Amino acid sequence: MDADIGIIGVGVMGAALALNLAEKGFRVAVHDSDFDRMLAARHAAKDLKGEIEVTESPAALVEAVRKPRPFVILTPAGPAVDSVIAAYSPLLAEGDLLIDAGNSDFHDTRRRSAALEKTGLAFLGLGLSGGAEGARHGPSIMAGGSPALWKRVEAPLSAIAARHEGEPCCAWFGPDGAGHFVKTIHNGVEYAEMQMLAEAYALMRDGLAMAPSEIAAAFAAWNAGPLASYLTEITATVLLAEAETGAPLIDLVQDRAGQKGTGGWSALEALRLAAPAPMIEAAVGARNLSARKAERLRLERQFGPAPRPLGEALGSREEALSALGAALLAGRVAGFAQGFEVLRAASHQYGWAMDLAAIARVWRAGCIIRCALLDPMAAALEAAPEAALIASAPFDAIMRESEGPLRRIVSAAAAHGLPAPALAGALFWFDQLRTGRGAANLIQLQRDYFGRHGFERVDREGTGLHGPWA
Ligand code: 6PG
Repeated sequence: MDADIGIIGVGVMGAALALNLAEKGFRVAVHDSDFDRMLAARHAAKDLKGEIEVTESPAALVEAVRKPRPFVILTPAGPAVDSVIAAYSPLLAEGDLLIDAGNSDFHDTRRRSAALEKTGLAFLGLGLSGGAEGARHGPSIMAGGSPALWKRVEAPLSAIAARHEGEPCCAWFGPDGAGHFVKTIHNGVEYAEMQMLAEAYALMRDGLAMAPSEIAAAFAAWNAGPLASYLTEITATVLLAEAETGAPLIDLVQDRAGQKGTGGWSALEALRLAAPAPMIEAAVGARNLSARKAERLRLERQFGPAPRPLGEALGSREEALSALGAALLAGRVAGFAQGFEVLRAASHQYGWAMDLAAIARVWRAGCIIRCALLDPMAAALEAAPEAALIASAPFDAIMRESEGPLRRIVSAAAAHGLPAPALAGALFWFDQLRTGRGAANLIQLQRDYFGRHGFERVDREGTGLHGPWA
């Protein structure tokens, strides 16, 4: 077969992407080092009448693709990608292109781009979002690498990408690791969103004594308004799922969250770039603490259980839910705003000249964090690319309207021992940003006292001034 594209790795994502490409008319050849996955790929390929060729070895895969050959790598991120590159590089010729479409750390992508450039092989880092369903029917695609390489693959990738009102959710964001960086921050925002929704769930369950079906109804109602999003929608859906016995499944699932690392990378990059993202940090921290189940049970026995019913603290149930919905809206704006701040900082740091509005556009469909607010976010970032998102219309209005409810929710949660670190991260981040006179003057004096680090004064010019201590 003269395949248009090769896929290396046919796990869940690779197989789904192969089917998507084949369905759009591309001839695809695939290979995987795992026998079972190859069998599954063969089975799936049968439905597509010869559009997918399952090859027996890396050499056979390379042979099956028409030159100059593009290959999409869809192995787990990390050392597996390096192994694939090492195994395939000797089989490839100048001009062949390796596209890493896994959730790779952008530092690895930068390293691999630089190393492959020296060999004459081309390399692109591609962030794909939307899980297996997205890969199969239309993912959101975030690319990084040389603009010339992007031109080579833009058409096929746009053909398989998700669409928002006809526009493909597929774009190039800069050289080397830019695409994987955007995907990492996407995942950071995903973590923040999921944590915030989990906090709302706990508040309704423990604070308002609501049953899973009632909580699902609240999420479904929010999903019909400005809070509409994929994650809000699936939250309502999963809350209605039943176990074999008919009991709500949610009540039977261990409260220990897994993670593969991208949320943590996001938080680390935010700290490195001095672009704080406290909601992402809170979400990663909360997943880490969730894993410490035995310790939590021990400490609950020692200190007594924390969550206490909210009673009338937030008024009637209707009033409480209305405040919670508004708090979630403010939290969503804050979570995205924090993510965009990290992206902006990285773009400056690495000279990527990223188009933040284009990122918001690519996130409007296909990806996990797609939501109704992304369209206005794209417009705001287009109109004022360097401005803080919360300073632009209509987010300035949302923050003004939702600030009160967010404050009430975070206060009530704190007073009743209901942990809400992501929502608190939204509120305190906002409060710090809108505080013209903060408390860092004290930190400056402390630093000067113990280390003669120097400070500036408001009443005179100059830096490196010192206090009256020896
Ligand atoms: C996506 C997701 C996906 C990610 C999962 C699991 O955009 O499709 O971000 O790439 O792997 O959400 O992530 P965790 O296991 O870290 O929760």
